[in-house]
Amino acid sequence: MKIAIGCDHAGLQLKEAIKIELERLGHEASDVGTNTCDSVDYPDYGQMAAQMVSSGKANRGILICGTGIGMSIVANKYSGIRAALCNDVQTAVLSRQHNDSNILVLGARVTAQELALKMLHVWLDTPYEGGRHQRRLQKIKNIEDSVKDG
Ligand code: RB5
Repeated sequence: MKIAIGCDHAGLQLKEAIKIELERLGHEASDVGTNTCDSVDYPDYGQMAAQMVSSGKANRGILICGTGIGMSIVANKYSGIRAALCNDVQTAVLSRQHNDSNILVLGARVTAQELALKMLHVWLDTPYEGGRHQRRLQKIKNIEDSVKDG
């Protein structure tokens, strides 16, 4: 899969580890930055990755900031984005099975790297279950459309 990946300064180290793992697994990581430890604003990087997924330029995305909260707020502004801030393996699995999450959001200051990599694996491998969940995703889409139309 082509996976857009972005972070702020707080997420840089974890982003680099995740990129290595994505490439080892045969995925294409499209890195939108940041690429230094200088303090930056997470919306600038969150929007670039979310746009790529929203427009279909990437299949999925991964966003990392200190808590993951800021990045998930940004990403979920975009049409068709279901960004899931996950804190353990179970939420990563359920975000795929029930919510068909297309962006995994991680908090580098609250999640150890080893756990983050486990979450990455299950998030990449777990399919969406569809069924009753599709009705709920359609309701989210209806809300998105009604908000857009005013
Ligand atoms: C940066 O200090 C921090 O606010 C940011 O990484 C993130 O946690 C915001 O939600």
